[in-house]
Amino acid sequence: MSAGGADATPPVAPDSRSHTPAPPVRVERRAADEDESRHANGADWDRYADEYQASHGEFLGDVGFVWGPEGLTEEQAGVLGPVRDRDVLEVGSGGGQCSRWVLAQGGRPVGLDLSHRQLQHSRRIDDATGLGVPTVRATATHLPFADRTFDVVFSSFGALQFVHDIERAVAETARVLRPGGRFAFSITHPTRWMLPDDPGEAGLVVSQSYWDRTPYVEVDEATGEVAYVEHHRTLGDWVGLLAGHGFRLTTLLEPEWPEHHDRVWGGWSRLRGRLSPGTAILGADLA
Ligand SMILES: C[S@@+](CC[C@H](N)C(=O)[O-])C[C@H]1O[C@@H](n2cnc3c(N)ncnc32)[C@H](O)[C@@H]1O
Repeated sequence: MSAGGADATPPVAPDSRSHTPAPPVRVERRAADEDESRHANGADWDRYADEYQASHGEFLGDVGFVWGPEGLTEEQAGVLGPVRDRDVLEVGSGGGQCSRWVLAQGGRPVGLDLSHRQLQHSRRIDDATGLGVPTVRATATHLPFADRTFDVVFSSFGALQFVHDIERAVAETARVLRPGGRFAFSITHPTRWMLPDDPGEAGLVVSQSYWDRTPYVEVDEATGEVAYVEHHRTLGDWVGLLAGHGFRLTTLLEPEWPEHHDRVWGGWSRLRGRLSPGTAILGADLA
């Protein structure tokens, strides 16, 4: 899906991307299991990584922690709590910008991502900055770490909306966190799923049910194979998920669109951002 692109015929769910998909795809709302989601999204992020980093790298900052297209930084938001001398896992770390910021604050980050190409960009930026973030290629639903390894697990628009088996991803997070550890993540604001993914006027018209959890799926027109998947959960789903895995919700931020911020990123724009939240940031502590 590309916001405002030629494929915006049926109402579609939000997407963190702003590219024209290649190969050409058709958009569907239909079930996609964990294997399909992982297989499709890993390959998609490998294809898209170069364009993603070229388009958004400067905005993210090589050693920068931005929670979403509104530009709210962790320095401003303080959702993670202190990171100095803490073991910190970033899930869906992409180019490692957030983890590099954690490193610069005196933390001990590890970046985890499904996409080999994203991790190559992470290494490239390590070399350019002299700040090396250890990384591992893995998926959010199978974290390759021992129990109680981290003080903080976070994800900035990383894996959580790309996995089908979210119960398992949250359980894995709880497993690798130490008691009292913090889990923090940003996602497309669940209310955005009611609107077409269009940064313009068309993206202001409610066109589908908030409660429809059917995934957004792009299907390769040539092969019929699933090429990309995003999964939707309501705010209530997220609260239930966190509580069900022993977390106590401490934070729900819905960053406002800054007055003079004119950036268009996929379906995120000043026009929509002034009227409705595009990003939700949740923070929770493990009991
Ligand atoms: C929108 S990017 C965000 C990357 C980075 N946090 C940033 O702010 O630029 C989403 C990242 O999640 C990764 N991802 C998608 N599905 C994943 C999964 N199941 N497990 C781990 N990472 C995943 C993608 O490869 C991609 O790098």
